[in-house]
Amino acid sequence: MKRSQTSSTVDRSLIGQEVILCGWVNSRRDHGGLIFIDLRDREGLVQAVFNPETDADLHAQAHGLRNEFVVCLRGTVRPRPEGTENPRIASGEVEVAVLEMEILNACAPLPFEITEDKEVGEDVRLAYRYLDLRRPRMRNNIITRSRIFQACREVLYELGFVDVETPILTKSTPEGARDYLVPSRLNPGLFYALPQSPQLFKQLLMVSGLERYFQVAKCFRDEDLRRDRQPEFTQLDLEMSFIDEDDIFSVSEQVMARMFQAARGFVPELPFPRMSYEEAVRRFGSDKPDLRFGMEIIDLSQLSAVTNFQVFKSAVAADRVILGLGVKGGAELSLKELDELIEFAKTSGLKGLVWVKVAGADFQSPVRKHLGDEFLRGCAERLGCSEGDLMLLVAEQPRSGRLFLGQLRIKMIERMRLEPRQEFSLVWITDFPMFHYNDEEQRWDSEHHPFTAPREEDIPLLESDPGKVRSRAYDLVINGNEIGSGSIRIHQRALQERIFKILGLNPEDIESKFGFLLKAFSFGAPPHGGAAYGLDRLTALLTGSGSIREVIPFPKTQKAYCPLTSAPSEVSSRQLEELNLTITE
Ligand code: AMO
Repeated sequence: MKRSQTSSTVDRSLIGQEVILCGWVNSRRDHGGLIFIDLRDREGLVQAVFNPETDADLHAQAHGLRNEFVVCLRGTVRPRPEGTENPRIASGEVEVAVLEMEILNACAPLPFEITEDKEVGEDVRLAYRYLDLRRPRMRNNIITRSRIFQACREVLYELGFVDVETPILTKSTPEGARDYLVPSRLNPGLFYALPQSPQLFKQLLMVSGLERYFQVAKCFRDEDLRRDRQPEFTQLDLEMSFIDEDDIFSVSEQVMARMFQAARGFVPELPFPRMSYEEAVRRFGSDKPDLRFGMEIIDLSQLSAVTNFQVFKSAVAADRVILGLGVKGGAELSLKELDELIEFAKTSGLKGLVWVKVAGADFQSPVRKHLGDEFLRGCAERLGCSEGDLMLLVAEQPRSGRLFLGQLRIKMIERMRLEPRQEFSLVWITDFPMFHYNDEEQRWDSEHHPFTAPREEDIPLLESDPGKVRSRAYDLVINGNEIGSGSIRIHQRALQERIFKILGLNPEDIESKFGFLLKAFSFGAPPHGGAAYGLDRLTALLTGSGSIREVIPFPKTQKAYCPLTSAPSEVSSRQLEELNLTITE
């Protein structure tokens, strides 16, 4: 028997016809002599019925079926008896009266049921990922992922981009994480690095004159894992020549639109709004603001004139600022929860946090008396707080205060389960600082990466005041997640060398790490720029998944371990010998 069609095509139009279906036994029910099975394939379910009166042997065979057996069925499509239709499935108006069955394979006792209803521990799910992927939600995630990938490829081909593979065995590409290293057998003692991104190769492709490159690229980063980070992940990577920021935004917006359409059937409003880094930090305390919620951070320093609270008064006198955040409905927080917020402030390096509940016409706060009526009314008005709300106040350096309240804002949005204003908010964050100071190592680090161009007008400040230099980098932020980033690049050797020097690289380092890039720049490198989008993160967002592990077919655990294959694992002493490696304690 050979499959004639899949479950989603079995409907009223086939009534009276014979079909041959293949799939897994999703469930089996015995009802007054009849045996019903729900046969599952990639597209859904079909009900099949075995009648002992039609064929006793076949009925006996069906009796032996267990969940997840693989079968092939031949039967006739007929309407379900009135009142037994199932509107939730595509084939819900019909059933198949089975005439013949072949059991293609049995199934051992399952480690967990293939249903959505049961919570299963992640270690078990990952160890049996092939079973986990049989569950409809996971299967749909993987299919949506494929649609998203198809959409981005299609639109980029249409726009004249060339799909180019870049090496996996390569040299370190600095994206701020540790490298995964691969020892070279033919070059004892030497190592390849797996690419943290195709950054340097895509720039070289611009020097090659390819003008428009893209790749759905695997990237590898050895960093601490979180729900939105995996050691190997997939980027949509692109690069263009003779362009500026507007061109990158326009291409990227077309790509995003097509990916949204493919996954969700609608297109977000174009063009996406833009916000400078400075504005994002000032208003939302973050360079990845979630704009589905209001809750802006408000400067309340002017009100220091009308309070007797010395902490606030002296802070403002010492050039610090009073910053506030209003939390809708936050007055319901218990004293214990408020203490935890204060603790969070202290562990974040702040001196303290003042909370004020708006209760009726009055306010409640441990420092209610000191703060005074006029100050509190002024705060409530500026923060838009009324009965039942909570005001959170800090007196800090502007930047650290805002960044702290930015974290608190996200915590409060989650704690209060606030309703978002819309399902998706997309925003470009622009004008990032070029460098940030690395206190530990006492030197400047790139905010994006060392190949990002500085803003033309800030170039004179490069050596004298690196902290003030803005770059031509941008991020795409969706619902508070960094989905992509990119920049206009440096394409002149001299400027690239200047940046390396500011980053503390000595001439030998520059030559050994990036000599090949600098050399390429001296052979007619065109002005260029690009971006990369995290496709796992995007797919997680578009499928409403809480973690990128839900949209990666075979992800690793928090410890970068694969419970399915037990990787990483030990290797034989012979392999080590061949590679000239010894393992020390
Ligand atoms: P960046 O390092 O910002 O830029 O990476 C681009 C996007 O990749 C995703 N991403 C990750 N996703 C899952 N797990 C990870 N460990 C992980 N790390 C990053 C994020 C991120 O926004 N070469 C530059 C791009 C460029 O300048 O063109 C780069 O890689 O969504």
